[in-house]
Parts: sequence; structure tokens; C-alpha cells
Amino acid sequence: MLELIKKTRTYRRFAEHRLISDETLLELVNLARLGGSARNCQPWQYMIINNTELCKDVFPYLAWAGYLSDWKGPLSGEQPSSYILCLLNRSWLKGSDKEAHFDLGIASQNLLLGAMKKGIAGCRIGAYSPEINTLFEIPDNLELALVIALGFPAETVVIEETPNDNDIRYWRDSGDIHHVPKRSLTDIVVNLKQR
Ligand SMILES: Cc1cc2nc3c(=O)[nH]c(=O)nc-3n(C[C@H](O)[C@H](O)[C@H](O)COP(=O)(O)O)c2cc1C
Repeated sequence: MLELIKKTRTYRRFAEHRLISDETLLELVNLARLGGSARNCQPWQYMIINNTELCKDVFPYLAWAGYLSDWKGPLSGEQPSSYILCLLNRSWLKGSDKEAHFDLGIASQNLLLGAMKKGIAGCRIGAYSPEINTLFEIPDNLELALVIALGFPAETVVIEETPNDNDIRYWRDSGDIHHVPKRSLTDIVVNLKQR
């Protein structure tokens, strides 16, 4: 489990022309389906995008790696080969949006873990432009909340401990390796004094 979780990093450069089958993408959505859900209302629906033209249409609306200010995002040839749109179905939602977003965190992590187990990597994209909605006829009860970009990875990503100044910004070295600082266990375990 530790190895799989360590490997399940965010990837932003892919072997664009190596395609993922529709069946595999459906298997990944099935993993999202089986996650925990507040009040068990399971308010998320997923649209699988797995054709080259539609992928090209979606791409311009996505914002990549905010901390890498001089990188404009994946080039042609290294862009995602598939996307999964995560849509909140408000007619199924019983609790709050906060609960729904916890559910989406669980569901998307299930999906990305299952993807990495198959050698497929992904990137959650919350920073998409709202104009992406103009690409689709979205019924009133559905609301796009997250785009998951997927593909076979074409970059190296490593995790490391945050430096002493606690800078959590990911960075790329001169060899183009992407580094992701993670806070240490001692930093995140707190011991509150009892009253
Ligand atoms: C809810 C959420 C939204 C995210 N949105 C974006 C995004 O819009 N663009 C992007 O490049 N990365 C996005 N990411 C990826 C994070 O930057 C990434 O998880 C973080 O740098 C840590 O790297 P790791 O996933 O490899 O641990 C998002 C991640 C999460 C969980």
C-alpha cells in the first residue's frame, strides 16, 4: 500500500499517443463509485472523454502547475490522452457541498490509485476555466467540479521532505525531474495538551 501511494503522484506530461481503452477508464470510474460517501448519497457522476478531438477541445481550458510559472503546460505530444469530468448531481445530494467534496476526494483517490496500479497516471485539475462548460450541454442539476487528466506518464516525479523553511512548492530540477515536497511525519502529528 505504501509503495502504491508513494507512486501515485500527480503527473502532467504523458505519452499522448499511447491510448487508454474505454474499458479501463470504466474500471477506474468503478473504483470511484465504491468509495465512502457522507449519508451514502453518492452524488458524483463521471463523464469519460476518450477521443482525441474532444481531448483537444478540453485542453485549452485547463491550468497546469501554478508553481511552475515559466512552464506553460504539457506540449503537443505530451498532453493527456483521456479525461474524466467529475460532475456533482445536485438532485442526489442530501448533505452539504463540503460533504460532497470529501466524497470526491475519496473517489478520485480510489481512481488514481487504481490507475497507477495499471501504470496510468493522472492530474486532478481544479483550476479550469469556467468556459469549459460551454463545450457541453450540462443539465441544470449537474455541476462540473473537477477534471481528472489521465495518460501514460512521460516524466519522472519524486517526493521528498519539505526543506527547513517548509517551502511546499513543487519544483523541477535541471534534469527535468519534478520534485514534490511532503511535510514530515513529525511535522504533521500533533499532540494536544488535555484540559
Ligand atoms: C483538489 C485538487 C485540485 C488540483 N488542481 C490542480 C490544477 O488545477 N492544476 C494542476 O496542475 N494540479 C492540480 N492539482 C495537483 C496538485 O498540485 C498536486 O496534488 C500537488 O502538487 C501534490 O503533488 P502529488 O499529487 O504528486 O502529491 C490538484 C490537486 C488536488 C487534490
